[in-house]
Amino acid sequence: MKHERVFSGLQPTGRLHIGNYFGAVRQWIALQDGYDCIYCIVDYHALTTPQDPGTFAQATLDAAIDYLALGLDPRKSTIFVQSHVPEHTELAWIFNTLTPLTELARMTQFKEKAETHQKVVNAGLYTYPTLMAADILLYEGTLVPVGEDQVQHVELTRKIARWFNNRYGKTLPEPKPKLGKSMRIMSLNDPTRKMSKSHGEKAYVALSDNPNTIRRKLQRAVTATLGGNVKDPGVENLFTLLREVSADATVRDFEAAQADGSIKYAELKAQLATDLIDHLAVYRQRRKELAGKPNEVKAILENGRARASVIAKETMGKIREKIGLLR
Ligand code: TRP
Repeated sequence: MKHERVFSGLQPTGRLHIGNYFGAVRQWIALQDGYDCIYCIVDYHALTTPQDPGTFAQATLDAAIDYLALGLDPRKSTIFVQSHVPEHTELAWIFNTLTPLTELARMTQFKEKAETHQKVVNAGLYTYPTLMAADILLYEGTLVPVGEDQVQHVELTRKIARWFNNRYGKTLPEPKPKLGKSMRIMSLNDPTRKMSKSHGEKAYVALSDNPNTIRRKLQRAVTATLGGNVKDPGVENLFTLLREVSADATVRDFEAAQADGSIKYAELKAQLATDLIDHLAVYRQRRKELAGKPNEVKAILENGRARASVIAKETMGKIREKIGLLR
């Protein structure tokens, strides 16, 4: 039986990398078989940082293509675009009226983005978490698969549900974050930081990188900068990936070589590249097929919108009534 509802949001911010995949997307795919899953491409969240109007629609479509190619299955899950269901922003407004500024000011993601990425800090960046709470609570999602960095937002969502319930009567469930088997893939050029496109081309392997690029990027990955017996984060990172994509025997061989000091990192990198390229072969093929059928992808998103809309309207109806808005 599918009881609990899973909800998660995916940013349409360009090409996915292997850190996104092993860190998060794989978990969403695995959940589809046990739960009622709703996956939303959060284009309004993406707008909190500047987006190019000329390519934004394509980026949103590309995100859908990526997730479908990776295994999100429209027969099992509801997949749709946030801005196609206007109730998200409607409910976010209501949550804005319940959320103290001091709570938003505590959010780590806001503080980081405000400091590092933004010349002008817009109000949307500040109220990002109330929109995220609206995403989740519109569907009465109770299980929210996210990465470590989003846990604080899910905790705030719990509080918002509580504030709403306290003021207007028990209406909304309190969702829980669901962390996957914790796996942090680090940047290839600075393995002390989580893999991110913001660290430059050399930092990450995009899922869509062609095999030659994957080989080249892995060859240049930083290893053994610390020397001696210190556990080197770059080497650890390569081993983390190797354990994901390579055969057990291969992993054991390299572990043994690492232990007795005979390991050659160039060989480790070459093997990892071969196995990673292999691992992504199905994705690459499916991505190509879907990219050639944009109308089919749009039809999937329209289907998702229709299904999401039914639930969103029902929840908003309840909420309007509880608040006492004139009908
Ligand atoms: N903030 C999330 C991120 O950056 C994306 C997101 C938006 C989300 N709405 C959500 C995640 C609702 C989970 C549930 O990754």
